[in-house]
Amino acid sequence: MNVLGIETSCDDTAAAIVEDGFTVKSSIFASELEQHRAFGGVVPEIASRAHLELINPVIAQALSSAALPRRPDAIAATIGPGLIGALLVGVSTAKAYAFAWDVPFIGVNHLEGHLAAAFLERRDLEFPLVVLLVSGGHTMLIEMRNRGEYAVLGQTIDDAAGEAYDKTARLLGLGYPGGPAIDALAQKGDPSRIRFPRGLRESPYDFSFSGLKTSVMHAVQKRPEISPEDLCASFQEAVVDVLVEKTLRAARDIDARGICIGGGVAANSALRQRIIGLESSQQIPVFVPSRAMCTDNAAMIAAAGYFQLQREGATSLDCGANPRLQLVR
Ligand code: KG4
Ligand code: ZN
Repeated sequence: MNVLGIETSCDDTAAAIVEDGFTVKSSIFASELEQHRAFGGVVPEIASRAHLELINPVIAQALSSAALPRRPDAIAATIGPGLIGALLVGVSTAKAYAFAWDVPFIGVNHLEGHLAAAFLERRDLEFPLVVLLVSGGHTMLIEMRNRGEYAVLGQTIDDAAGEAYDKTARLLGLGYPGGPAIDALAQKGDPSRIRFPRGLRESPYDFSFSGLKTSVMHAVQKRPEISPEDLCASFQEAVVDVLVEKTLRAARDIDARGICIGGGVAANSALRQRIIGLESSQQIPVFVPSRAMCTDNAAMIAAAGYFQLQREGATSLDCGANPRLQLVR
């Protein structure tokens, strides 16, 4: 069964064809980054308009590169969480194609998409799995008991990890998005130059990053002798320390058979290295998906949609988009 996946929750317009939930036949995306960069962040109205212009060409390209013998058998689209105007473009387009082609529509939670991404690259991951989901909008520790069966162990009580990267980068004049810029500078800096606070140490699985951002601001103002490289490295060390510490604690507490990461911040080189290191230091199987599979894409939506269709059947065409959709089962 070939599923067409559509993802428009934020600033990437993406479409993909995935066969039987595992084989990616095409995965296309058009980034709107250049249109948002001048504003230092994603502008919702610009995102909606860009999705409208890009969605049909992106779908056409996904269909032609997959070279299917006939139309897809189902269409999955992200219904939330995300920007409402942006989501509506993908959801309406998916429903229109599903109606015209007379195939099932599947409304997918974007976060379930991120959880499905790892399985597109590794089929043999064993449950229970601890997944650290770190993106621009979310920072969550999830116990995955099976496909479609989750418990949220903890999450951020303020900023998401990606948001902390983006806000800190803005503070340092590094532009948007901040993650890749800080990641690159940090590699040339000394992570022990300043000891920034490790947020919410007292809670086992929840996170807090807003205090860290404030500490970086104070350091910028009061200690001009510290280089941007050292600031970035020390900031990154504080973020990665808590992410890794709490992920490991969760894995031990639930007796996990493995650890996996996902979301845009999972593209971070320090986080990847530290998580991979757990495999030998803690004797726990670890899987770190490719960077392309960590950031937003439509293949993960098609894959999550395929398994959702098997479990729960199609989604009604009456279904709308929900910008604050939660990950609960
Ligand atoms: O998952 P994603 O592509 O979109 C959302 O669903 O939010 O995540 C985007 C976030 C941004 O905050 C961006 O700064 C961050 O991921 N990011 C990174 C890196 N690459 C992207 N953060 C740290 N290091 C990176 N290399
Ligand atoms: Zn995402």
